[in-house]
Amino acid sequence: MSAPNKNYDPVAVTALSAAEVDRALEAALAAIEAASTLDELKEARLAHDGDKAPLRLARAEIGALPPEAKADAGRRVGAAMNRIREAIGQRQAQLERNRDEQVLVTERVDVTLPFDRTPEGARHPVTMTAERLADVFVAMGYEVAEGPEVEAEWYNFDALNIPPDHPAREMQDTLFVARPDGEPGPQGGYGGTGSPPMLGSGMVLRTHTSPVQIRSLLTRPLPLYVVSPGKVYRNEALDATHLPVFYQIEGLAVDEGLTMADLRGAIQAFVDALFGAGLRTRLRPDYFPFTEPSGDVSMECHVCRGESVKPGADPCRICRSMGWIEIAGCGMVNPRVLVACGIDPDRYSGFAFGLGVERALMLAHGVNEIRDTVDGDVRFSRAFGMEI
Ligand code: DAH
Repeated sequence: MSAPNKNYDPVAVTALSAAEVDRALEAALAAIEAASTLDELKEARLAHDGDKAPLRLARAEIGALPPEAKADAGRRVGAAMNRIREAIGQRQAQLERNRDEQVLVTERVDVTLPFDRTPEGARHPVTMTAERLADVFVAMGYEVAEGPEVEAEWYNFDALNIPPDHPAREMQDTLFVARPDGEPGPQGGYGGTGSPPMLGSGMVLRTHTSPVQIRSLLTRPLPLYVVSPGKVYRNEALDATHLPVFYQIEGLAVDEGLTMADLRGAIQAFVDALFGAGLRTRLRPDYFPFTEPSGDVSMECHVCRGESVKPGADPCRICRSMGWIEIAGCGMVNPRVLVACGIDPDRYSGFAFGLGVERALMLAHGVNEIRDTVDGDVRFSRAFGMEI
């Protein structure tokens, strides 16, 4: 900036002449008008309203003018600069509007298009456990056999040596299927216990996977080794320890010369597979109509390994300090079942076992409430890793 100058030198301050200011103003307005993007406008602003802009440089010279010329030059330069800023502001608003309109066009989203990122989902931990158990037996040469969930009473009960008046029909809290005419059988039942046979529809929601034994024996050649995972139904209220719908897995082997030693071996194989090798198993007598003799399978507690039974030891939540955990029912196939399926019990013998899949999963993973398996909270499944 020049020092105040009483001797007005018109050459040094041509920049402040009316013609020069007008020229600078016109150049600025033309550049602003020509800017077709916000970036170009930014450049125009720097060139015409920035520190190095002609009018800014000219304004710096005002101080050098004689007093009588200062006011006039200041007014003219100030007015030109205001015009420029006004023009920049208007152009800025216009270009922003253009840009926004452009964005609406180029980034338009058709919300009616099909959504291509639907989560793939995962198999439920109960399904995975059932498959893992089935796989153990498939690896030993068993075949997977399946049957219907709406099952004839004959398969679910009669053929399994559970006659109509047998208390096991009551014990299993059966859900009977209504007759086609919708009428309940006498005594308010649907042909279940207490009703004369066949007054109901003769169909039930299968209470166990054991009817698949019968279906397999009737349709497959011998020797026969099958494993049957599936859904079963009981007339139970849902609570922390009961489900009205749950999964079982059933094993059945029928061959010449099978003994309880074979049964023990099969049981040990699935305990090893689910809980890791090295846990002992034991059989205790029990009763099931379709096996004779029948047994309860227990395995050594995989958490405390029996330690919690010792005096003064820490209690074990999993086995309730019993040292053993009951995991399955089993037995040698009752000859009556073989006969019902047309098989000669003098030539063939078999063993069977059945267990609850949810219970196996709960034991293996320390799940406390069976309800967690049906709540549908994806965090439960995630804790098992999403195997898709
Ligand atoms: N079906 C039985 C139940 O639901 C479980 C069972 C026990 C199955 C013993 C078997 C078996 O095959 O041998 O309670």
